[in-house]
Amino acid sequence: MERREFLKVCGSFASLTLLSPALLKESFASQSNEFKKYKKAILLNKDGNPIKPEDIKVGKQYLFFYPYVSTPAFLINLGKEVKPVEVKLSDGSKYLWPGGVGPQKSIVAFCAICPHQLSYPTPDYSFINYYPSDKKSGVVKRGNIIQCCAHLSVFDPEKGGVVIDGPAEYPLLTIVLSYEDGKLYAVGTLGKELFRDFFDAYRSDLKKMYKSFRKAKKKVDKSVVLGVEEYAKEIIFC
Ligand code: FES
Repeated sequence: MERREFLKVCGSFASLTLLSPALLKESFASQSNEFKKYKKAILLNKDGNPIKPEDIKVGKQYLFFYPYVSTPAFLINLGKEVKPVEVKLSDGSKYLWPGGVGPQKSIVAFCAICPHQLSYPTPDYSFINYYPSDKKSGVVKRGNIIQCCAHLSVFDPEKGGVVIDGPAEYPLLTIVLSYEDGKLYAVGTLGKELFRDFFDAYRSDLKKMYKSFRKAKKKVDKSVVLGVEEYAKEIIFC
């Protein structure tokens, strides 16, 4: 399958976290080789109001859909400042992951589609989940990880979603967030995108769920944040 590459090193990205939101936006827009800009989407609570950072509880996993109406993403408050780190890939490419956002710079977001074989949370079950610090993964014997029980890939949300263990070749795709005037927005992606593969693999399921394949590929400009347990009937930890 054809997979698009968006990852190239760009030194100026290192300064992004020091810029104002407006400059950040401009800078992101110019980083087309590694950052892919999508529609800016405000994150909302279930009442349709902008979600506040304090509503995102530490240790709980949340989902929202971005950049497409059918592509789930995790929203996680890691409870402490999460610093930018350089993410290196097995093919030798690398990029600077911008770390957390919000008043404590503790909130991160990743695409919830596993980069191994595209397992993702559905309304029936979620094989890929965030394990808070007090819930140990059976694979790496620690918490504060995202693990996919389909084939036991484990990712580190504090270090740009890099692979800690298992067969996944790439880190989780980062959903780039922006925090402006107390509101959270998703503005694009950073890393290896697999949306084309996802749409190819699940075309008939998505068609059924969203009434048409075209509707499943609609880009969002707002997205409601839900607890994973509110979305998926069964949450599988391993
Ligand atoms: S699909 Fe997630 S580890 Fe294989």
